[in-house]
This record gives sequence, structure tokens and C-alpha cells, in this order.
Amino acid sequence: MSFISEIKRRRTFGIIAHPDAGKTTLTEKLLLFGGAIQEAGAVKSNKIKKGATSDFMEIERQRGISVATSVLAFEYEGTKINILDTPGHKDFAEDTFRTLTAVDSVIVVVDVAKGVEEQTEKLVEVCRMRNIPMIVFINKLDREGKDAFDLLDEVEQKLGLHVIPMSFPIGMGYDFKGIYNLWEKNINLFSGNSRKDIEETIEISDLNSKEIDELIGEKAANTLREEIELVEGIYPDFDREAYLNGDQQPVFFGSALNNFGVRELLDCFVEIAPKPRPKQSEERIVKPEEKDFTGFVFKIHANMDPNHRDRLAFIKIVSGMFERNKPYLHVRNNKKMKFSSPNAFFAEKKEIVDISYPGDIVGIHDTGNFKIGDTLTQGEIINYKGVPSFSPEHFRYINNADPLKSKQLYKGIDQLMDEGVAQLFTLELNGRKVIGTVGALQYEVIQYRLEHEYGAKCTYENLNVHKACWVEADDIKNDEYKEFIRVKARYLAKDKHDQLVFLADSPFSLQMTQQKYPSIKFHYTSEF
Ligand code: G4P
Repeated sequence: MSFISEIKRRRTFGIIAHPDAGKTTLTEKLLLFGGAIQEAGAVKSNKIKKGATSDFMEIERQRGISVATSVLAFEYEGTKINILDTPGHKDFAEDTFRTLTAVDSVIVVVDVAKGVEEQTEKLVEVCRMRNIPMIVFINKLDREGKDAFDLLDEVEQKLGLHVIPMSFPIGMGYDFKGIYNLWEKNINLFSGNSRKDIEETIEISDLNSKEIDELIGEKAANTLREEIELVEGIYPDFDREAYLNGDQQPVFFGSALNNFGVRELLDCFVEIAPKPRPKQSEERIVKPEEKDFTGFVFKIHANMDPNHRDRLAFIKIVSGMFERNKPYLHVRNNKKMKFSSPNAFFAEKKEIVDISYPGDIVGIHDTGNFKIGDTLTQGEIINYKGVPSFSPEHFRYINNADPLKSKQLYKGIDQLMDEGVAQLFTLELNGRKVIGTVGALQYEVIQYRLEHEYGAKCTYENLNVHKACWVEADDIKNDEYKEFIRVKARYLAKDKHDQLVFLADSPFSLQMTQQKYPSIKFHYTSEF
């Protein structure tokens, strides 16, 4: 197959959802269609169990699963599909944000009863900012839930999307009869038998045909006719360009657990979802079809065995072919490197691959050369943008608890930050180190891993910070900026890239500072 056909047949996406909406179940059913797994239950849920926050076995279990499910690739009717795992738990949101820089589209799973939940809102917002094409899957139709029109409204309002229903439920919960597929113009009857691979599909040429009354009963048939008329009246037609630009989001209804509505979703997905997209670098836009290889690191995973400190760096291929044993330029280090055993990931295994194409993810063994966001190329100086840091929610000083092990401590902190476990800020005033995290769980992970992998001990000390704001000033020589630096010296720190950060201790002080220094901009992310 030609290079161009290889690119065209790839679909790289992530499934985003609030925990429990059904991401794992849906992933598993998608893999079943691809024949990538043999039975249900093969995809492990990477959920953190409630109340298990201080259980290190749980953290280790989580890390193990998160390696296993980082990328799940499978073939479906000639399409190569790469699903990138996006943890739903809020303590791992940063990980998910970074993964979203490596996907070409997403599927958003919403629970029919719970509607739009908090994590979904945050993640969709990031996708919206990046104009990532999204398809919405409303799940658990076999349960009592919200009215379909109300849900569509909620998705539009809370998520700021423009929905286009591609299917519509016939009844719900106990009365759930099936789905009318507006995209293919047919009806799927729900039998509630998850073992069936494909549900009975009945082609419907005319919604007014009596056949429908026979299938689902007169009452349900009439309701369906009214609802479809409403749908067609309210929502515009599906426009693929609008979907690809992030201006329109198709919606499907179904039940992942019952494998219902999943095939329709998958079939539509492979048809409309984007092939690998061009990517903006600091220097220029890079197209997948370019012959020279480029790619970037979006995730680093430490070895599960603490005695071997090598790590897996996950690289998304943006352009060209990535070949085993070929020298590539590590742009930040200005160093050529060869990789003898790049891994590709398939549903239940990983294996060494000779060639990978744009859209693919390869995992390479790393002994500490890579940081998240690093770019690899065939020689050209390209730096991919778009792996930003977000302001953490929690901040603590980190102290060395074993003075004889300070070297180990700093090395450990350094490497854990490269992995993106948390963010390190160094105070300008006294050089003290502050660790910022999205969730409190990370502090335990860091302490545990520093001790078990690096032989270093640390303690924490609380620090009252509301948000970290990256500081942008057009003119650092003007008096306003100089005064800001002088007056706020106690609250200033540098991040790992030496960017200046203002650690505001309350929303009020942030607001006051913004008012007092109007020429300075304060950002919640490191990319602006
Ligand atoms: P997540 O990865 O998004 O966190 O969700 P996951 O797939 O683990 O699903 C969360 C729960 O919702 C699971 O039940 C799962 O079986 C259930 N579920 C998923 N899809 C459907 C559906 O279409 N209908 C119904 N009724 N339930 C669904 P659980 O009891 O928490 O877990 P388990 O013990 O069944 O694994």
C-alpha cells in the first residue's frame, strides 16, 4: 500500500467522558467489532476506585493499566483505528489534556441519566479550543434517563456544541424499543441481547409506512414520526466540513453495554472522522503527507519495575514514516538518536514495528532523554506547539527529608516532572521548590515513587496558592512591569521552562493584581 493510502486509512481518536459514563465499555465494544479482542471484559477499566486514594496498590494497579491501555489499535474494514486512552478521573486530567494534543478527533460519551457532567465539560472545552472534531454518544439508553430533546439541549448549552442527531431513540429505559438511524434511514430493534454482534436492522424507506407500526406498535410509531419531524425541523443537515472544523457535532444514541448503536457509531465514524491532520509547529504547519518524518512526545510512562528506570515515551507521528534503526534528530537536545525497538500497541499486546505512519503512536524506550512536548525530526528544526501546562489546583512546598539523598531527590523530582506527574515551580525569592498538581492523589504518588524508585525521602508543607498564572508582558523594561516584579516578588516563581509564573493566593488578589497592572497578562495555561 502506498504511503498516502496508509495515511488516508488511519483514524486516531480519544474517547472522553466523566468517570462511569461508559468509556471502557464502549472501547471494548469497538474493539470487538475490529476482532481485536475475543470477549467482553478484556479491556481493563483505568478507573480509580472510590476511597482508594491512599492505597499504593491501587496507584500501581492504575499505572499498570494505564500502560496497557495507553493506545489500543485495531483494524476495521480496511481502516486502521488508534484509540488513545484519556483518563476520566480529575486527578489525571492533565494527562488527558496532553493526550488530546495527539488525537485527530474525539468521541464524547454522555450518560443518558446523568447528562453532561463536570469532567466532560472541562475536556470538551479543551477540544473546542482546538477545534477538534467531536462525535457525541449518548449511552445507557436501556436505562431510564432524560428526554432526548432535553439532553440535546443540555449538550448544546453546557458544552457549547452544535449538535446534529444522527440517530434517535425509540422509547427509553423499560420501554426502549430501538433506534431510528437518520444517517442510514433504518430502524434497529433493541433485543437487549449483548451477545448478538449485530442487531436486526430494518430498512425504512418511508417513515409513514405501516411496517413501522407493526414493528414497534402504533403509539410508539406515531411518537417516532412526530419526533423525527421535529428533529428535521430543528436541526440543520449534517455538514461534514462543519464537523471537521469543529462547528457541528453529530450525536448517536445507544447502549454500549448491550452493544447497541455501537456499530452505527463506528461505521459513521470511519466514514466521516478525519484522517491524520496537519499540525502547527512554532516554525510552520506540517502536513502528514510530507515525506520527512516528524513527531512529538505526548506521554512518558515510567517502567513498572522500579529497579529498571527506563521509561516509555509515546510519540505521535505527524508526518513521514518512522523507521526502526534510522537516526532522527532530538530537536531540543540537538542530538541524533536511533531506536532499535519501537513498539506499536495493539489491543492485547505490544510489538516491535519497522515502519509507522502519520496518525500512529510508537512507544520508545527512554533512559531520560525525553520530556513531554519534545520533537523528533529527520533533521529539520521543528518544535511542535500544543502540549501546554495548565494551572495546577493544589500547591505544596517539597522538602528534602534525607539530606544524604539530595542528589537522588532532585533527579527523581526532575524525572517525575518530565513524565508530567506534576509541575515544579521554583520561587524567585529563595529558590524553594513548589509542587503543583491537579489532584491531591499525586502527592502520595510522588512521595511513594521518590522513595521506591530513587531512594529519596520528601515531606510537604502547605502553601496557600489559588492559581498559577503565566505572566506575559510586552515590555519588561517599563515601570509598571518593574514595579510588579518588585512588589510581588514573594509570589513569583519560574516553571520548568524558566517561564515566569505568578502564584496568586486568592481570586481577589489575582483580580487586584490584574487591575493594578493592566499591561501585564495573566494566563492559566503556559501556552498563549
Ligand atoms: P468509564 O470507563 O467511563 O468509567 O465507565 P465504564 O465503561 O466502566 O462503565 C461504568 C458502569 O456503567 C459499568 O457498570 C458499566 O457496566 C455500566 N454501563 C456502561 N454502558 C452501559 C449501558 O449501556 N447500559 C447500562 N445499563 N450500563 C452501562 P459498573 O457496575 O460500575 O461496573 P461493572 O461492574 O459492570 O464493570
